Amino acid sequence: MPKLIFINPNGDENSIDAENGLSIMEVARDHDLGIEGTCGGSISCCTCHVVIDKDWFPIVGKPNPDEEDMLDLAVGLTDTSRLGCQIEITDKLDGLRICIPEE
Ligand code: FES
Repeated sequence: MPKLIFINPNGDENSIDAENGLSIMEVARDHDLGIEGTCGGSISCCTCHVVIDKDWFPIVGKPNPDEEDMLDLAVGLTDTSRLGCQIEITDKLDGLRICIPEE
């Protein structure tokens, strides 16, 4: 199981064993990490906005055009912002560092 490291706005880290096939939004939501995922993953909200660690961003990859349009509405958008519901967990993401923005 890949391990994901979620970093709270206050700097606290939570290391979580995540199941392959789930999305980052689902894992964060199920562990009460401050990610709501209001629309359930249909790219119609920004409540799953996360900031990917710079070193990891090339591995995670860029948002697709629909996701980019929605991200434009996110508070605190950064160069490595993604919608958590659009990132599927796989073994290659083992050790991924994800910042949860303050919102
Ligand atoms: S949960 Fe709404 S866009 Fe990700």
